[in-house]
Amino acid sequence: MGADNTVLVIGATGNVGPLVVRQLIDEGVTTRALLLADDPKAGRLPDEGFEVFHGDLADPDSLLPALDGVESVLLMWPFFTLNVDTAPAVLERIARQARRVVFVSSIGVHIGYEHTDNNCHAYLEELIEKTGLEWTFLQTTGFAANARLSYAQQMKATGIVRSPYGAAARSSIHEGDVAAVAVRALRSSELAGRRLVITGPEVLTQIEQVKIIGEIIGTEPTWQDVPAEAALKAMVSAGWPPAYASGALEYFEMLTKEPELITTTVQDVLGRPPRTFREWAVEFADDFR
Ligand SMILES: NC(=O)c1ccc[n+]([C@@H]2O[C@H](COP(=O)([O-])OP(=O)(O)OC[C@H]3O[C@@H](n4cnc5c(N)ncnc54)[C@H](OP(=O)(O)O)[C@@H]3O)[C@@H](O)[C@H]2O)c1
Repeated sequence: MGADNTVLVIGATGNVGPLVVRQLIDEGVTTRALLLADDPKAGRLPDEGFEVFHGDLADPDSLLPALDGVESVLLMWPFFTLNVDTAPAVLERIARQARRVVFVSSIGVHIGYEHTDNNCHAYLEELIEKTGLEWTFLQTTGFAANARLSYAQQMKATGIVRSPYGAAARSSIHEGDVAAVAVRALRSSELAGRRLVITGPEVLTQIEQVKIIGEIIGTEPTWQDVPAEAALKAMVSAGWPPAYASGALEYFEMLTKEPELITTTVQDVLGRPPRTFREWAVEFADDFR
């Protein structure tokens, strides 16, 4: 069992991981980042101040050196590219070494809306609960960073965003706020046993999000709704697992009728409100120009 509060960050090159690594370093925590060998996205991480370990969630034993002597682990599961077959063995390896795991889960578990073929986050939560580890689940809404994936290329190329369900009303979260809550949960037992439903401070339709980005970069983008069937085809050919894509589209359709939840979790945990979508868009405006 780790004694010096060493934290291992799995998913260190994703949207949340690099921000967790940065904050842990700033707070003086001994930090390890797990990278797939020769990870091309390692440039997202700071230049120094942490240890690099290589490992692959598909090969549970490859995590052992990184886990040796850690106290806490930030875990996420790359559901898009890796099935959950190795998840039990990964958790067994984590439980052998660590005291605590913080899992980046989804609001889908909270509202019971994970597609039945796609209940991966719920499955991981169940596995984690059985390990005997202290756990915290971060059940988050969609990251504001999804806007970059969904809109940036089209805004730059044509100024027309073609996407499904423009009227879907989302409480997107700044991924830095997810990271800040994660760091709190990683550093002590204060948030152990909590399912934290993490949302942004406001609900905006996707059309409103695009309009805000346009205001910031000085353009007037237009939105064209793509029918769900065409969107599904495009998502699957872009690499989405089919069940995941159809589940996401069903969820978006639901959000055209019933806006996404807003919670006070970020305020309660961090003592400050979550950042708005506009704040996120100002920070990353250059990605849309
Ligand atoms: N995005 C959202 O809106 C959203 C909403 C709710 C919940 N979530 C959850 O949040 C999690 C984290 O999101 P994110 O956006 O930070 O993730 P992400 O950008 O998709 O990054 C996934 C991370 O996992 C790493 N990875 C991929 N395959 C791996 C493997 N076999 N072994 C070890 N590491 C591997 C990736 O490394 P590479 O960089 O090398 O690929 C990357 O660092 C997601 O997995 C999802 O479950 C996301």
